[in-house]
Amino acid sequence: MKLSSRHLLGLYGMPAEDIELILETATSFKEILNRPIKKVPTLQGKTIVNLFFENSTRTRISFELAERRLSADVVNFSVAGSSVSKGETLKDTARNIEAMKIDMVVLRHSAAGTPNFLTQVVKSNVVNAGDGLHEHPTQALLDMYTLKEKFGRLENLRVCIVGDIAHSRVALSNIYGLITMGAAVSVCGPATLIPREIEKLGIKVFHRIDDVIPKVDALNVLRIQLERQAGGMFPTLREYHRFFGVTKDRLGRAEHPITIMHPGPINRDVELSADVADGPHSVILEQVLNGVAVRMAVLYLLAPM
Ligand code: NCD
Repeated sequence: MKLSSRHLLGLYGMPAEDIELILETATSFKEILNRPIKKVPTLQGKTIVNLFFENSTRTRISFELAERRLSADVVNFSVAGSSVSKGETLKDTARNIEAMKIDMVVLRHSAAGTPNFLTQVVKSNVVNAGDGLHEHPTQALLDMYTLKEKFGRLENLRVCIVGDIAHSRVALSNIYGLITMGAAVSVCGPATLIPREIEKLGIKVFHRIDDVIPKVDALNVLRIQLERQAGGMFPTLREYHRFFGVTKDRLGRAEHPITIMHPGPINRDVELSADVADGPHSVILEQVLNGVAVRMAVLYLLAPM
């Protein structure tokens, strides 16, 4: 079985069969992660470059672990200390690295569309590890994997994405993927952080967290993207927490337990209170583990054979 594209640029327009194939493949890779020796020879002899033009902890480590557990050769590039500070363009950087015979590129960049651009200038297969405000497909795939593992299905699952929807590539990729898989998706946040006409994607919009909590199975709580905001989107972080913070008190008012997700990094006691982040219904660290399995699946399915 193969994916319908040789790159993973986003979940927009990705067929349900592709998403299913990735999630199924991830299940067998997750099994490997639980073995005492967590390594298989699947990508032996393949070289993968991680091009990270923007800060990252989890995603970079997760991709690198996934690559190493598949026995690929890994080269890491981060912008600090590179020739980018001498004025080299992305195209030149990428083509020079590719001239050293690499098979795949994993790219994170602060500008939307750079992974698409890269596919036009290099021959390698490209995986988007987050491009600006656009998409973060592997994060959404690991979120969907985690939900499927927990609930056994995605169809008709009620998922609300909470917070800074306007500045979140995680939100957009989740919306596309979850809708394709038949989930009932909603978003909740202050009007200033929700793009206008987002309902047209087929989702519900809430502006009060207390209205949404009784109606969902899972909340995917997003980080307030302070570095991407011009400021003034809401009065203060304390006020944001008062109106939209996901707290034990608020969750306690629902009749059923609600699964709590967060892509990390968490602003503790802003979007999520610490006791909820560490509480019994939080699957945040499972998301992190599943991220490695899902990225192994993506790399395996896209690797040129
Ligand atoms: C996300 C990202 O970088 O888009 N984090 C991640 O990949 N784990 C979300 C965020 O930065 O808030």
